[in-house]
Formats: sequence, C-alpha cells, structure tokens
Amino acid sequence: MTQDELKKAAAHKALEFIEDDMIVGVGTGSTVAHFIDGLATIQDKVKATVSSSDDSTAKLKALGFEVWDLNAAGSVDIYIDGADEITEHKQMIKGGGAALTREKIIAAAADKFVCIVDQSKQVGVLGSFPLPVEVIPMARSYVARQIVKLGGDPEWRQGVVTDNGNVILDVHNLSILNPGELETQLNQIVGVVTNGLFAHRGADVVITASKEGVQVS
Ligand code: 5RP
Repeated sequence: MTQDELKKAAAHKALEFIEDDMIVGVGTGSTVAHFIDGLATIQDKVKATVSSSDDSTAKLKALGFEVWDLNAAGSVDIYIDGADEITEHKQMIKGGGAALTREKIIAAAADKFVCIVDQSKQVGVLGSFPLPVEVIPMARSYVARQIVKLGGDPEWRQGVVTDNGNVILDVHNLSILNPGELETQLNQIVGVVTNGLFAHRGADVVITASKEGVQVS
C-alpha cells in the first residue's frame, strides 16, 4: 500500500467514532482530506462541523456541510486530525500545514481528540520533524533569537502566511525529551502565538494504519 492509501485507511476508520447529532471538529491536511470525503457518506449523522483552516472549510462547504464558528458551536463532541509526528504517549508535533493554532484551539475545546496517521508518523522521540511555531510577523527575528537560546535552529517558512495573518518558524535540530516543558517554554516567548507541540493536550485515541492493518490505541 502507498502512504496515501494508508492515510485513507486511517481516516476511514475514524468514521466509526462519529455518532448521531455530533458537532465534529475537522483538522487539516492530506489525511484529513480523506476523512472529509468519508464523512460525506455519513453526512446525516453530523449536526455541524467546526473547521481548523480555510482549506478544510472550503472542502467541507463544497460537500454541503454546515461549518460553524467555534464560538457559536460552544463545545465540540469530537476532533479528528492528523499529525506530523506522534509518540506512544499520544503527544504530537503538528503544523506542517501551518494550521496549528486553530487546530490546537479546537483540540482544547473537544471532548475527544482522535488522531489519524500512517505508521511513518510514529516516533520514539519528537523532533526529527521541524517544530512549527506561529509568530506575530513583527516579532519574527526576536522570537528566532530566543529559540536559538533554547537550543533550536529556527527557519522562516518563506512565502507562508497563516489563516491568522502570521508567519511560521520551523525549528530544526530539537530532540524533545520533555515535550510538555518545551511547549510551555515556547509559548512564554513574547510574540509566539502558539507552537506545534501537542503535549499538554495530546490525542485521546490514535488510529495508525500500516501494511499489517489498522490499529486503534
Ligand atoms: C496541519 C497538520 C497536519 O495534521 C499534519 O501536517 C499532517 O498532515 P498530513 O495528513 O498531510 O500528513 O498539523 O497543520
């Protein structure tokens, strides 16, 4: 199976978690794109969706879903999203698609977070994937200098503006042995909107597709 077929297998397994009348939080990325397509086949179960990006909003609306603002939705029954890296402790690096801030907000508001990945995303230690940090544009150089002091090697993601109008620094060469501590440290730098470590609010359920099959943990 190709990596894309594995992403699709994980995404379709997540459909089993959708119950009648749910408000469904929808992440961003190629794995989630398969989930959105699958969700269209059980659309009658979905009361409304809450979206983590303009891209996912466009996909959802094209299929006829209602997309509610999180403030109007209040609570979110379930949040389905992918990850760039995930550990056995269900802690993640996210933000490869630059949607980390809205993803983190919906994850925080959701009763249950189901992460859908192919096996290549499973890692022992987070940090091989450069850690995305969303930054207010005028603070970019300042924040980069502070990240260097923490031992990281930040790189400005050129040409990318987030849905919130900010920029992304991708932080290389981190071996993240204490994800919760680093998540907090990065968020304390003035000018950081949020960072792509999902440690304090990890996933509740992880669906991993490999060529051996689909595993739910
Ligand atoms: C977007 C994300 C995605 O979940 C992550 O990048 C995984 O993407 P894909 O499913 O395309 O591999 O965090 O900001």
